[in-house]
Amino acid sequence: MNEMIPVLEAHDLTRHYMVKESTFAEARTLKAVNGVSFTLQAGRTLAVVGESGCGKSTLARLLTMIEAPTDGAFSVNGAQVDIADKTQVKSLRSSIQMIFQDPYGSLNPRKKVGAILEEPLVINTSLSKQEREEASRAMMAKVGLRPEHYNRYPHMFSGGQRQRIAIARALMLQPGVIIADEPVSALDVSIQAQVLNLLMDLQEEFNLAYLFISHDLSVVRHLADDVLVMYLGRPAEQGPKETVFEKPLHPYTRGLLASTPRVNPDDRLARSEQVELRGELPSPLDPPPGCAFHRRCPFAKEVCSQDLPDSREVQGRFVACHFAGEV
Ligand SMILES: Nc1ncnc2c1ncn2[C@@H]1O[C@H](COP(=O)(O)OP(=O)(O)OP(=O)(O)O)[C@@H](O)[C@H]1O
Ligand code: SF4
Ligand SMILES: [Mg+2]
Repeated sequence: MNEMIPVLEAHDLTRHYMVKESTFAEARTLKAVNGVSFTLQAGRTLAVVGESGCGKSTLARLLTMIEAPTDGAFSVNGAQVDIADKTQVKSLRSSIQMIFQDPYGSLNPRKKVGAILEEPLVINTSLSKQEREEASRAMMAKVGLRPEHYNRYPHMFSGGQRQRIAIARALMLQPGVIIADEPVSALDVSIQAQVLNLLMDLQEEFNLAYLFISHDLSVVRHLADDVLVMYLGRPAEQGPKETVFEKPLHPYTRGLLASTPRVNPDDRLARSEQVELRGELPSPLDPPPGCAFHRRCPFAKEVCSQDLPDSREVQGRFVACHFAGEV
């Protein structure tokens, strides 16, 4: 495969919902994801961060073809995805797999681990029963499960072990891309690092691309190559992790980073760069005009409540702020 073709590429990806707040209310548009673009290469990790409700899981549902975008497009290995094309979707389902936050809800409680791992092979391959068992046992070893776990049910495992089962299942069809939606946030902090390290080892071994969704910037700092910061469905800032974390330019990114506890004090933003995140997140049904962040932004000027800032390249990353690099 051509090294330069991204495994996943999104262009202005958009998902709007028509919602009614009551039976007789008029339907209104909720812009859950609004113009997201990125490229993701094999072996790389793009972290998607932002407060609750900014559209992270909706983006994940678009990319895993659970829902169709209302606008924009994305492509997998250079081929544009048409979710109405059932044949294409079926073949792509094996290339893009998902890991969910809740390892309890995502595993069928009535199936044993072996059957859970072999199910995708039954559906998508013509492997024999014995070949399926060999493949699932090999994958169990790779994710740190023991041979005797093959015949156990999910409820017999701890949260971290269950997430290992979910990871193994996601890898059974040799996908190129894993969409991980808060994969460690339901786990004890002591277990999180083990699962993150496993994900990084598997990434190296299989040259996996991760779209890694997290609200926890200390986790993102650990494993991202690139970062996409979202605010109310829109990209606020995106670029290489070092660039964005060392010198964030969007006031929202600065606010998120300033409120993240650091293990290493050297990672802390200089006091002059810190922004305090104040005020409430606005309703996505009624976002403020202009820059949706303006009521919370200490640098807001008149233009900010009137004109929507375009995402533009400033100092090696993209920022949607009228005053990026100036404040
Ligand atoms: N099916 C739907 N119909 C209507 N609105 C929806 C639907 N799915 C999501 N939304 C809305 O879209 C917005 C984005 O939701 P989403 O779940 O993608 O956010 P998120 O960033 O994953 O949040 P969290 O961090 O809490 O998981 C929210 O305002 C949510 O209420
Ligand atoms: S555009 Fe204005 S309100 Fe929005 S982040 Fe920039 S300075 Fe703040
Ligand atoms: Mg979510």
